[in-house]
Amino acid sequence: MTDKKSSNTVWHHATVTRERREKQHAHKSVILWFTGLSGAGKSTLAHSVEEKLHQLGASTYVLDGDNVRHGLCGDLSFSAADRKENVRRIGQVAKLFIESGVIILTAFISPFKSDRQMVRNMVQHGDFIEIYCDSPIEVCEQRDIKGLYQKARNGEVKEFTGISSPYEAPPNPELVVQTGSDSLEKCTSDILKLLIERNIISNNQ
Ligand code: ADX
Repeated sequence: MTDKKSSNTVWHHATVTRERREKQHAHKSVILWFTGLSGAGKSTLAHSVEEKLHQLGASTYVLDGDNVRHGLCGDLSFSAADRKENVRRIGQVAKLFIESGVIILTAFISPFKSDRQMVRNMVQHGDFIEIYCDSPIEVCEQRDIKGLYQKARNGEVKEFTGISSPYEAPPNPELVVQTGSDSLEKCTSDILKLLIERNIISNNQ
């Protein structure tokens, strides 16, 4: 993080609190943090979970890697330092969404353990649910929806995750979904089950 330059600021406490918003929404707020290789299916799965939650009447929002890099993080490259800053900004935005009583789903490669841990540490215990989209690189590369694996192999794209930049799988995620082999329906329903188990949403939502 860059040095804090905004001194002389005072936190203003809202009278409409997170608890009151959660009560109004009839569910808890939480961060569902999807991590995995490019092409593992993070965005597809996050949007599928959001679709189900929306149909159940929940308040949700998806922050997606490619979209956020068009605006909020458009100044960042794929160096390790810039990926850290990317994750830090997303983490701070996700934290604001939590305060707004929303279920926030984030779909970023977020390849480094320490960066994901940084976000976990930003929020209260239980607010950060890490979902590892586990898909072998061979599957991601075969899909190559954006043609980036081929470009990475040719050297046209530098520091590409899994090829020329590392991906550190989470050792203890709240959930692992096999997005390379299991169906979208199964992965989606596993996440919904977890949310019910953890009393984020109710069974009769
Ligand atoms: S992260 O590593 O900083 O978390 P993020 O999820 O925001 O990455 O962006 C990943 C997306 O950017 C990929 O899905 C891919 O479309 C695109 N991309 C472009 N260059 C790279 C690169 N060098 N490594 C990984 N993804 C890249």
